Amino acid sequence: MACIFLSMGLLLNCVYVNMERSGKRRLFKGDKALVRFENVTFEYIRRDEEGNVDGITTALDDLSLHIRKGEFIAILGSNGSGKSTLARHINALLSPTKGKVLVAGYDTCNVDDQFKIRQSAGMVFQNPDNQIIAETVEEDVAFGPENMGIPVEEMTKRVDDSLKRVGLYKKRLESPNRLSGGQKQKVAIAGILAMKPECIIFDEPTAMLDPVGRRMIIETAHELNKKDGITIVLITHNMEETVGADRIVVIEKGKIVMEGTPRQVFSKGEELKSLGMELPVITELAQRIGLEGCVLTREEFVKAFERAQD
Ligand SMILES: Nc1ncnc2c1ncn2[C@@H]1O[C@H](COP(=O)(O)OP(=O)(O)OP(=O)(O)O)[C@@H](O)[C@H]1O
Ligand SMILES: [Mg+2]
Repeated sequence: MACIFLSMGLLLNCVYVNMERSGKRRLFKGDKALVRFENVTFEYIRRDEEGNVDGITTALDDLSLHIRKGEFIAILGSNGSGKSTLARHINALLSPTKGKVLVAGYDTCNVDDQFKIRQSAGMVFQNPDNQIIAETVEEDVAFGPENMGIPVEEMTKRVDDSLKRVGLYKKRLESPNRLSGGQKQKVAIAGILAMKPECIIFDEPTAMLDPVGRRMIIETAHELNKKDGITIVLITHNMEETVGADRIVVIEKGKIVMEGTPRQVFSKGEELKSLGMELPVITELAQRIGLEGCVLTREEFVKAFERAQD
């Protein structure tokens, strides 16, 4: 028994995100889709030096997905399954080869609307260092609104508000290069917030961070979702980070292969494993020691463990 408790303690320490909202699903403000993928196929076309087609990779394959306003959606999938390609379609960095992507009603293929789309759907990428462009934190955050032509007074307010929102106001005059990885990601988030987005897409934002930085970024994403109603699309390989999402979508070879609440998706451990993914550590542990139900959080683990002792 002592051995089980010891290994439980060690494994519980590994689980650093615990944000399932006591089993209650959120009610969305209406059921309006902010992002619509309608039968989207995207092909990367490689050409040789003469411009002849050398190879085609179908990264998205007739994929349809609606993301509701105010939703927190997590996208899972093995390497090369098409997650980043999907993300890049939301802020019009890529346009479909076939099908349609609509963001806030704007068609991403329409060049005139792409600027508006990028304001309403900002992206945070994996490498915090690649996203820094200015000498000071506040200049970095001001880059977006400056390009939007926002008047100076309004821009200053937006920059200050955004930095306060992510807890970096005191560091506004410092060089971003002196910040931790997690803080740099927060600067990137503040830069997006200063453009007053409706949606933020995070493409593996924690992959290069330590556990403290990871928790900081995932908590910030949840806070922006809950308090500010910002739609969040989180792409990750870390299962623990998806436990607090409203919905998980799993993609494989450019197609949606699983979809549902975290509990629905993590109840299908075998299916997930066959797609090259793992269960969250706590869910796996609960299953291995024979606890009932699909356990997603520490609290659920303790309750299920106590029930098993009765
Ligand atoms: N610029 C590109 N040119 C050609 N093929 C590409 C390009 N970018 C991605 N691909 C291919 O498209 C497919 C989907 O790639 P994508 O980067 O969207 O996957 P992913 O799910 O984000 O992978 P990862 O988990 O490794 O980040 C892969 O087969 C990949 O090799
Ligand atoms: Mg990717």
